[in-house]
Amino acid sequence: MALPRTYKSVHLARRPTDHITPDIFTVKQDQTSTITALKDGEVLFSPSHLSLDPAMRGWLNDSRSYIPPVKIGAVMRGAGVGSIVASKSSKFRKGEKVYASCGWTELSVLKDNEVEKLELPPNGRITDALGALGMPGLTAYFGILDVGKVKAGDFVVVSGAAGATGSVVGQIAKLKGATVLGLAGSDSKCTWLVNELGFDQALNYKDPSFKQNFRSATKQLIDVYFDNVGGEILDMALSRAKEHARFVMCGGISQYNTKDVQGPKNYLMIVSMRIRMEGFIVFDYAKQYPEAKRQLAQWMAEGKIKRQETILKGGVERLPEALQMLFQGGNTGKLMVEVAAGEEEPRAML
Ligand SMILES: NC(=O)c1ccc[n+]([C@@H]2O[C@H](COP(=O)([O-])OP(=O)(O)OC[C@H]3O[C@@H](n4cnc5c(N)ncnc54)[C@H](OP(=O)(O)O)[C@@H]3O)[C@@H](O)[C@H]2O)c1
Repeated sequence: MALPRTYKSVHLARRPTDHITPDIFTVKQDQTSTITALKDGEVLFSPSHLSLDPAMRGWLNDSRSYIPPVKIGAVMRGAGVGSIVASKSSKFRKGEKVYASCGWTELSVLKDNEVEKLELPPNGRITDALGALGMPGLTAYFGILDVGKVKAGDFVVVSGAAGATGSVVGQIAKLKGATVLGLAGSDSKCTWLVNELGFDQALNYKDPSFKQNFRSATKQLIDVYFDNVGGEILDMALSRAKEHARFVMCGGISQYNTKDVQGPKNYLMIVSMRIRMEGFIVFDYAKQYPEAKRQLAQWMAEGKIKRQETILKGGVERLPEALQMLFQGGNTGKLMVEVAAGEEEPRAML
């Protein structure tokens, strides 16, 4: 198939001060001919799907973090799955499906060491490389197993439970013999967690009686709390921690849009209950990714890990509004944008 004459990319136009609005990004169009002369070891990549991740909100702030901020004017950072459309590398052939940190663009020139081959189970889809078998799945795997050290008999509470990471956390904890309570933002998400994914219980944190419901659901006290949201829910989990509980600090999405970050008021529970509260960044486990990917793929092949995807159709122009959706709970499971219609079966298209 011939390449289109032009291609589009989404660039950061200005930094947000609090909530993301689509006008912080701008869409630009360039001539394809300007990037098609590849050097040795390079490939031309065209994504079919681009990933939306809460961490992107942090990459827009000009502050010190585990990764430098996206520069004003630059193509927005992000990962995608799709096809090699031209290759001057012996490692990849034209037509091959791959994963790449390509940015929010329809076409990019990448070095072959920036591109990864996909290893999927028989029931896998290429989009799984962005979700349950990709970064969110790996975050769940290392977070609950290595940081949380989950074991049979533990009582585990997961916030952000119906998202890409949380949904896998709860399923791994169940596989290890734990009892799992998930917290999510709607009744339908809670029903999915219990009926489809096998969580023992799920609570809607937007329900007016959430505080009472949480107290009665955590009577046995918490062994492992996997935190994706921070804020008031973290405080509530601290108040119900068992002695020597492990708090896995994965993220705090409720605080990403504010400069006035709410720290835990109940932090003295860390002392009295001898809690181990530990943050982690999945990239630190890069050397162990192959082993974790194999295990996650096996669990998926055996039907022990299920996933859902929320996919926005309509191309790169929809990426800014999709990023906003993460902060409004518009997704169940992994959120992504379909950049180019492919052969994948459509699922939960919006
Ligand atoms: N440490 C690491 O290496 C690492 C790696 C990947 C991800 N993370 C973190 O893991 C968390 C989940 O990421 P993900 O990619 O799996 O995203 P996700 O859970 O698929 O999507 C984000 C979800 O957060 C919930 N949410 C949004 N605003 C909220 C609020 N104010 N309070 C409570 N919940 C809120 C929404 O669901 P509801 O309907 O339930 O509100 C939304 O669906 C994020 O905190 C992310 O930063 C950390």
